[in-house]
Amino acid sequence: MGPARVLRTRAELRNALTGARRPIGLVTTMGALHAGHASLIERARAENGTVLVTIFVNPRQFNDTADFEKYPRDEASDVQACAAAGADLVFIPSVDEIYPDGFQTSVRVGPLTVPLEGAARPGHFEGVTTVVAILLSLAGADRAYFGQKDAPQLLVVRRMAHDLGIGTDVVGCPIVREADGLALSSRNVRLTPAERAAAPVLRRALLAARSHYDAGERDGETLRSAMRATLATEPLAQPEYVSCSDPANLRELTRVEGAALLSLAVRFGDVRLIDNEPLP
Ligand code: PAF
Repeated sequence: MGPARVLRTRAELRNALTGARRPIGLVTTMGALHAGHASLIERARAENGTVLVTIFVNPRQFNDTADFEKYPRDEASDVQACAAAGADLVFIPSVDEIYPDGFQTSVRVGPLTVPLEGAARPGHFEGVTTVVAILLSLAGADRAYFGQKDAPQLLVVRRMAHDLGIGTDVVGCPIVREADGLALSSRNVRLTPAERAAAPVLRRALLAARSHYDAGERDGETLRSAMRATLATEPLAQPEYVSCSDPANLRELTRVEGAALLSLAVRFGDVRLIDNEPLP
């Protein structure tokens, strides 16, 4: 793969996209790229004429300033990773370029953003949908690729794009995992060795609930209890929530009749990890 072209301003992006080979595939990221991001870029490469990756650590979606400040940043290696995975263009705007002087618009999706991640991180989704609306609008992409690891984010972005009549097809892509089952996340590098060793308990908890489901269990609370019981075996894991919800609206299910989403958020020290498993 050749080098990817780095663009920093809205105007540079607009110029680069004028006459770009279509379809245009977009992967939005906050940098700290790992194999999960690479899989999104590679999928975009396989399905589009031009691949655009954005790298922007969005201050508006962090409800904790320390988390924003500690978010890993390594532009040079990110640009290389984008090129290696097949990106043509990498947009790396400043905060002022995304939120110019006098900026006062925000995009808020309704009830879908209330439970689970929305409840745990007030304001988070409004930050995400505002920046993603801006990026989708600047890119005019035909397709945008999002990881299934952030399942609520995927749902909320899809809802927003549909509601606002944004013509971009929002494509969900499978979770990429380490050999021991830990879902790839830019936050994993902040785990201590002991926390890293403990972190696969998220996957084990999801698989415990799945095995109950596969054995015929359909009671939502029993599936949630199976996750809690597995998490309780790991002293370093501080569960924030476990959930068995309706994937259409993220409301907790008392009984699983059709599709369901098992999901959880767990803290290890000051690092917060999430994971999920769709049923069936
Ligand atoms: O998933 C992420 O990395 C971010 O939430 C996104 C979609 C790039 C918006 O800042």
